[in-house]
Amino acid sequence: MGIRMIKGVIFDLDGVLVSTDEMHFKAWEKFAKELGIINFTKEDNKRQKGVSRMESLEVVLSKGSRVYSEEEKQEFAERKNQYYIKLLQSLKEDAILPGVINTLKMLKEKEILIGIGSVSKNTPLILDKTGLTPYIDKVSCGLDITRSKPDPQVFEVAAEKLGLLKEDCLVVEDSIAGIIAAKAAHMRTLGVGPEYKQLRADYAVANLQEEIDWKSILDS
Ligand code: BG6
Ligand code: MG
Repeated sequence: MGIRMIKGVIFDLDGVLVSTDEMHFKAWEKFAKELGIINFTKEDNKRQKGVSRMESLEVVLSKGSRVYSEEEKQEFAERKNQYYIKLLQSLKEDAILPGVINTLKMLKEKEILIGIGSVSKNTPLILDKTGLTPYIDKVSCGLDITRSKPDPQVFEVAAEKLGLLKEDCLVVEDSIAGIIAAKAAHMRTLGVGPEYKQLRADYAVANLQEEIDWKSILDS
């Protein structure tokens, strides 16, 4: 087998390019309290990483004892999203995580395409608010898919939009669901974030500011 160069890097958004976890947490916590759920913690919030809005809602509801109808759940998810969007209004450049801009510039210099693969339906708003939009070639997000991570769909759509074969893409992820999704899409993986050691990615670093051997990752 010869050396296969990476032609595109697909980044997850929340927890990889930008720090929005605290805003997600605050919005869910506010909603949980309204429902009388007072034991929703940051530990529970970790289980919401990388999964869809409706699945994140189930994590919150599992902390209570009541059963709700589909209609009620739709209203709950919408309500949380309104709280979240309100918080996102104050999002700006300083929410971009360390090392991100340099990494994006380095990839651009190497003529490697840059994509987003995020299940968040707020992806365009977040890219816009932080000023990241001009760095991104193609976006695949919650608005483009019917199945969320760990299903590979969001990454397959990203590769397709970039005009690349799945095998020529590297995925950068901070969630287990995301790494499973990328592997299911036959893409190589770089795990980042506080849980990077547990992600079982092909390569793993605490953050993008670390010394990263990009040459061997991109040429592997
Ligand atoms: C992911 C987050 O990026 O987006 C999850 O890690 C979140 O926690 C999911 O539930 C969906 O986001 P949104 O913005 O569509 O509610
Ligand atoms: Mg993430």
